[in-house]
Amino acid sequence: MKLSPRLAAVAGLVPMGARVADIGCDHGYLSLYLTESGTAAHCIASDVREGPLSAAKENVRASGLEGSIELRLGDGLSGIAPEETDCVILAGMGGDTMREILQAAPWITGGGHTLVLQPQSHTDTLRLWLSGQGFSVTAERVVYDRGHLYVVFRAEWDGKGDRSPLCPYFSPALLALSAEEREPYVERVFAELGKRLEGLRAAEGREDEAGELAAHIEYIRKMVEQ
Ligand SMILES: C[S@@+](CC[C@H](N)C(=O)[O-])C[C@H]1O[C@@H](n2cnc3c(N)ncnc32)[C@H](O)[C@@H]1O
Repeated sequence: MKLSPRLAAVAGLVPMGARVADIGCDHGYLSLYLTESGTAAHCIASDVREGPLSAAKENVRASGLEGSIELRLGDGLSGIAPEETDCVILAGMGGDTMREILQAAPWITGGGHTLVLQPQSHTDTLRLWLSGQGFSVTAERVVYDRGHLYVVFRAEWDGKGDRSPLCPYFSPALLALSAEEREPYVERVFAELGKRLEGLRAAEGREDEAGELAAHIEYIRKMVEQ
């Protein structure tokens, strides 16, 4: 099976031999690839909606992998027991949804579970929340897929998290990537911050906040350029 560049980047961060929980599996392509390629020892592919899960069931049946991929209907991690998995994948969802799913399963903290995350939005609040829970980002990739830029990262619990002021924006793993790979994402983050700043400058009575944000942007730009 050939994955899209975005899903291939997600698959590339899954540890070899993992027992995967692919939450929000939709069509099930990722679980199929991880199983066929021998990356995953076992997959639970789960979705909150019947439609996607039926499509995944059909794809799994067609590829004859029913013995290695379990399909489950359920909201987030509610139907998954901690001991069934050591790698939780959340891809193609908003960062806020991911945070809610992880928050509802406190067992993901403590070190037994690797997270592979590809948020579509709210990446800053997700990164901050993960850090607050003691997770550090240990690997990160930036990928273009059909004209869109995506970021994918692996987060592992070390009890400390990332305490750098850069934490909401860039992990050390991202900054260690080649300039060619990381720059489009770095520029996107600064463009988003710039838009936020413009909004504050245009709003009445928010001059102080605008000044603080401008100074913050300047500060993190210097840190990134170091
Ligand atoms: C855009 S698709 C992404 C599918 C696949 N993970 C990918 O990256 O290509 C998002 C999927 O997440 C599912 N989903 C959304 N919220 C969910 C939740 N709380 N629990 C489980 N699945 C959820 C949706 O039903 C949908 O199938």
